[in-house]
Amino acid sequence: MQLTEVLQRRYATKAFDANKKLPEAVVEQLLALLRLSPSSTNIQPWHFVVASTPEGKARIAQGAGGSYSYNESKILNASHVVLFCARTQIDEAHLQKVLAAEERDGRFASAPEIKVAAHNTRLAYLNEHKFSKKDVPHWLEKQVYLNMGSFLLGAGLLGIDAVPLEGIDTAILDAQFELNARDLTAITAVALGYRADTDFNAGLPKSRLAADEIFTLI
Ligand SMILES: Cc1cc2nc3c(=O)[nH]c(=O)nc-3n(C[C@H](O)[C@H](O)[C@H](O)COP(=O)(O)O)c2cc1C
Repeated sequence: MQLTEVLQRRYATKAFDANKKLPEAVVEQLLALLRLSPSSTNIQPWHFVVASTPEGKARIAQGAGGSYSYNESKILNASHVVLFCARTQIDEAHLQKVLAAEERDGRFASAPEIKVAAHNTRLAYLNEHKFSKKDVPHWLEKQVYLNMGSFLLGAGLLGIDAVPLEGIDTAILDAQFELNARDLTAITAVALGYRADTDFNAGLPKSRLAADEIFTLI
């Protein structure tokens, strides 16, 4: 399928068929999407809670009460729900974990001094956000949103229906999964599966601002 066809086909799914489950081979590819997403300096400031059981989805649905209840059935009826979490800070242990993974994966095989350079570059970026821009949590959250963007496109390419869910109570989910104690915080979620026949949104035309509104071609 052409990319533009995928972009037209994918849409924010409002009702999932609760009887349809994603095949395991598809789930593996979806997890690969989450893991292989790029991030600034490869800092990978994320964690994902992936729910596929009724109990797991019910736990995530705890964050879809009150004014977010319009999202509850999407979470409960989806095949899988991914809760995207961001690190609230980057400590030395995380930096060393990333560096060790890069070494294990062979990034420094050609010249050992590259390891020092990789660490120093990451630290310099982190310190810029810590001391100059003073926006570390925001910077880390942006990396998570970038991940979610490529995740949505990848799901579309795999022919999977999905909906991003910013309409969740992240404080409730922080408590539900004891995220803050691990320097993590819930950011957003994506529900995935197969659309229900009743989904009103499936048949609506896609709508975007006109190209000449959003592009400056020079
Ligand atoms: C960051 C983000 C958060 C969103 N949150 C919700 C949500 O909580 N519930 C929902 O039904 N749709 C949500 N959406 C879906 C958008 O409304 C939808 O993507 C937009 O209207 C464009 O339509 P399309 O995705 O069908 O092309 C969200 C989309 C994004 C990108």
